[in-house]
Amino acid sequence: MKRYPTRIYLSKPHLGTWERRFVQEAFEENWVSTVGRHLNDLEAEFSTYTGLPSVAVATGTAGIHLGLKLLGVRDGDEVVSPTLTFAGGCNPILYERARPVFIDSERQSWNLDPNLLEQFLRRRASQGALPRAVIVAHLFGQCADMDPLLEICGRFEVPLLEDAAEALGASYKGRVPGTLAKVGVYSLNGNKIITGSTGGILVAQDELMVEKARYWATQARDPGADYRHSELGYNYRMSNIVAAIARGQMKVLEERVEQRRAVAFHYREAFAELPGIELMPQAEYGKHTNWLSCFLVDEERFGATRDTIVSTLDAANIEARPVWKPMHTQKLYRDAEVVGGAVAEELNRRGICLPSSSSLSEEEQAFVIERVRACCPRITV
Ligand SMILES: Cc1ncc(COP(=O)(O)O)c(C=O)c1O
Repeated sequence: MKRYPTRIYLSKPHLGTWERRFVQEAFEENWVSTVGRHLNDLEAEFSTYTGLPSVAVATGTAGIHLGLKLLGVRDGDEVVSPTLTFAGGCNPILYERARPVFIDSERQSWNLDPNLLEQFLRRRASQGALPRAVIVAHLFGQCADMDPLLEICGRFEVPLLEDAAEALGASYKGRVPGTLAKVGVYSLNGNKIITGSTGGILVAQDELMVEKARYWATQARDPGADYRHSELGYNYRMSNIVAAIARGQMKVLEERVEQRRAVAFHYREAFAELPGIELMPQAEYGKHTNWLSCFLVDEERFGATRDTIVSTLDAANIEARPVWKPMHTQKLYRDAEVVGGAVAEELNRRGICLPSSSSLSEEEQAFVIERVRACCPRITV
């Protein structure tokens, strides 16, 4: 069995020289904690990029937690979430002791299905019990179809939170994902298109909301020299070192998007002659970053299961993973309500994420392609 000499990871950090320079500056100035110039500059740069006020927090998960609080989510409320998502995108519902309702994906984008959302909200409206908020996630670098989602939520007056953790650098009809709803959240964790080593950014239409999130993220300390607290706060602020790394990464965001797209399209071209394996759809309304190169495998036509491909690649020292496991199939959420679910289950069963790093060399890409081809009995390698 052929093995690549070093592990080819799914998605790894891709750092340059700006990051070192900014971190060095933070060290020299001795601003290494949760206050400093890079934090302020990172927020200003995100505000320029998004056109909205922003606050830098410890993680995307923390940002979603604060975002839900901003939308008024409290004990016992219902909150809608896509079932196809990562746990960090919906666990904050439980942090507030609210109740998630999971809704299925549509096939065009793999994201929240507007028709199912509408049916659900109509049902709840007739019961006089609308959910407190709706979360929409933009998975794998592709935006959900925001116009219908915004229209439906607007009609029922339920606020929408955009989980843009995976969609930094993408666009929706020329607009920046994360900026279309009341609140948006980005993740800068180590596997994302750009990273601060960890980190998250919250943006909101309303400056006061961002101020409130900053207050909660810094232990909700009231003004004054002594330690007064009138509300429950969190230690959720980003560090200036993380911000320094993230600032360096912001400089290359566009380049990273093009590199990730090129990897996905290279795989697509190389697999064109293989039966039963196709790239995740690229919805016409936006620009997909292909943060992860996701493919759907039809095991009948391809001649091998998705799991066989994952294990064959693993044996060749290549990391590949299934598409997210839907939340309604998780033990943690076994009692949660779900609307639909079959599409997400199918995407999870048939979907594979291939190595997608922006630094993936030609040689590494060629090796991944060759190993995937080797899994297909209908092709002679
Ligand atoms: C869809 C989604 N939501 C939320 C998160 C949470 O972000 P973080 O890891 O920065 O807490 C992630 C990433 O990890 C994610 O992929």
